[in-house]
Amino acid sequence: MRRSKWSRGVALVGAGMSKFGVFNDLTSRDLFVEAYLDLKKSIDKDFDPDSIEAFYLGNFSSDQFEKQAHLAPIIASWVGLSPISSVRVEDACASSGVALRQAALSIASGEYDVVLVGGVEKMTDLPIAQVTEALATAADTQFEIPAGFTFPGFYAAMATAYLAEYQAEREAFFHVSIKNHENGALNEKAQFGKTILDIMESKKARAVQKGRIVPEWKNELEFLRDTKANPNIAWPMTLFDCSPVSDGGSAVLLAAEDIANEFSDSPLYLIGSGQASDGALPDRHTLTHLPAAEIAGKQAYEMAGLTPGNIDLAEVHDCFTVAEIMATEDLGFFQKGEGWKAAMDRKTSRFGVMPINTSGGLKSKGHPVGASGLGQVNEIWKQLHGSAGERQISGNPHIGLAHNVGGSGQTCVVNIFERRE
Ligand code: COA
Repeated sequence: MRRSKWSRGVALVGAGMSKFGVFNDLTSRDLFVEAYLDLKKSIDKDFDPDSIEAFYLGNFSSDQFEKQAHLAPIIASWVGLSPISSVRVEDACASSGVALRQAALSIASGEYDVVLVGGVEKMTDLPIAQVTEALATAADTQFEIPAGFTFPGFYAAMATAYLAEYQAEREAFFHVSIKNHENGALNEKAQFGKTILDIMESKKARAVQKGRIVPEWKNELEFLRDTKANPNIAWPMTLFDCSPVSDGGSAVLLAAEDIANEFSDSPLYLIGSGQASDGALPDRHTLTHLPAAEIAGKQAYEMAGLTPGNIDLAEVHDCFTVAEIMATEDLGFFQKGEGWKAAMDRKTSRFGVMPINTSGGLKSKGHPVGASGLGQVNEIWKQLHGSAGERQISGNPHIGLAHNVGGSGQTCVVNIFERRE
């Protein structure tokens, strides 16, 4: 399809992130500082910030969320990096995955040796109706929004098409949510540090405390089937099928492969990268997968010289539960129409054949949209270094993949990382 290797290799020498969640007192700058300090801690050799030559910041819409545009130079100055070149990259929810790719290309071109990549979004200052309206500007405002779509609506349409085309069981979506909450409960950076069982039990305890009738849910599925506990947002996507509205920051440091060992004894190498685009929903020939994701995945596999079977774990863009199932098919981990069965059979759990979203995914870790792509890369960093704590997967993983989507699939970027010893 296209050329396979960049002329100069690129390595990841550190990764950090803030806690994701709802932080009323913090701004984008504060969240990025938290991520940057965490990144600095992760770099195991001497690190002088003066070595950073450029900064790429993924951010969807600080202008709408915080009335602050032109964020990259402001954040660069805030962490003491002026006057380096600072660029904001906007590709909706894929902003920081794309920022990473742009930064990597700037190293591959020979222009820079060391580049800082960030992602940040501060979404929770606005009421939910305005958040939904702001997010909707990532859709096609001429053809999609006038038809009544919001983001839960887009993915509800895809979910309905998926259920019909593959005769899938709707409860497959619940299994994605249950798994991702299980993983997020083991991630101290996650917005929901709770399993759905924990949430269920705390709701029962609250009912007892308030002298109300105590619900009789016996397990997570009974809880998720209860439309009082888990209301429809856009059928068949319920509350627990949606990623939340979040604040957060993330950061990684990239270096040219030939100097990576100056920063780290165990860098990760960016061995595959791909990106593709698509038109609005009415332009697509299918609603049951994201063509841009398939293309970006193929490009990344081809560059890496790998197949889906070589991937040890993947962080995929589960903005809604159906999106995770489609991603596992678009990336070739399961055949088309089989992803829902794999989710129900727990093949994608951290003990399964293809661990997906061990961080908790966007569903449970949170989805501060511009920060999410590098949030995924943080998990790959941890898992490939064996430092993911209780959620660490077994089998000494070497290859991790991050799949980051913008809008309803108009942008998809896939990056593949390798640990080499
Ligand atoms: N999953 C599970 N629980 C959630 C949740 C989610 N996504 N979002 C909120 N909650 C919980 C809150 O913790 C709170 O629980 P509590 O009552 O026990 O304290 C309760 O639901 C109400 O929270 P609130 O913040 O008032 O929810 P909301 O109605 O304002 O927002 C959604 C809920 C689903 C509308 C919102 O999370 C949303 O829009 N998500 C999608 C975001 C999106 O489109 N991102 C871009 C993707 S491409």
